[in-house]
Amino acid sequence: MTVQPVSMIADHQKSISLKGAEKHFGPPGGGVQALTPTTLDIVGGDMTVLLGPSGCGKTTMLRMIAGLEPPTAGTIEVGGANLWANGARDVNALKQLGMVFQEANLFPWLTIEENIALPLKLRGVNKAQRQRKSRELCELVGISGFEKRYPKELSGGMRQRAAIARALSYDPMILLMDEPFGALDAITRDTMNAELQRIWMETRKTVVLVTHSITEAVFLASRIILLSPRPGRVQEIIDVPFERPRDSSIHGLPEFQSIVAHLRTQLEH
Ligand SMILES: Nc1ncnc2c1ncn2[C@@H]1O[C@H](COP(=O)(O)OP(=O)(O)OP(=O)(O)O)[C@@H](O)[C@H]1O
Ligand SMILES: [Mg+2]
Repeated sequence: MTVQPVSMIADHQKSISLKGAEKHFGPPGGGVQALTPTTLDIVGGDMTVLLGPSGCGKTTMLRMIAGLEPPTAGTIEVGGANLWANGARDVNALKQLGMVFQEANLFPWLTIEENIALPLKLRGVNKAQRQRKSRELCELVGISGFEKRYPKELSGGMRQRAAIARALSYDPMILLMDEPFGALDAITRDTMNAELQRIWMETRKTVVLVTHSITEAVFLASRIILLSPRPGRVQEIIDVPFERPRDSSIHGLPEFQSIVAHLRTQLEH
């Protein structure tokens, strides 16, 4: 079986559309409206960042896109396929989605290589192929040489690199990341931002990343989706124009600072 490289796959096959998608937790008339009806297109092959205050529904929206949470109403399409047709998850659409959380959540009793290859093992891929893929991914995310180590032997940044490798192991077209660098120190976080940009440029996957950090959002995003305080709704969509690869010097550009200042004002409101 030949696998088409993600970079060759048409952007519309990697796109995500929310059509009046909303989420209410708890009983009608009570409970919490986490996301108001939202219609939104996330461009395939693009790096999109969801930014907004705590509790505005960022994780909820990402979990809905990941197929972990059904919308209360409306639809979510992945590559044109309805993710929740007839109340059941579309298995083919799910295969296109990989997820990275704030904590790496690696199994401590498995080596890095075994952790990365676990999704492949669950899919019945043989050991030799799993090992080959793990090695390839360790190289992509910059942890070559640590394949046989255990998670506790790695730093927080390296564990998060392994979690990214695991999410990429089955070649999903879309990578969903919920505050993936939130638990890291500032310097490691900057390094990981640059690394994520490199991985994205090499793979051209659709990346949807949730963050609280305004500078992380402006550094990484091609497009920022700013959500309002609860109940979440799309308040503004901002295209970020800087060429890639971007490096840390863009923080000093007046245009970078003006986007940051604008977002800060919006968030403070
Ligand atoms: N499983 C759930 N059951 C009930 N309420 C929930 C559930 N998940 C989220 N909520 C509520 O929905 C709202 C949005 O939560 P969500 O976790 O999506 O926010 P968030 O923007 O990711 O916040 P943070 O930045 O703090 O991570 C919150 O009021 C939260 O309490
Ligand atoms: Mg969250």
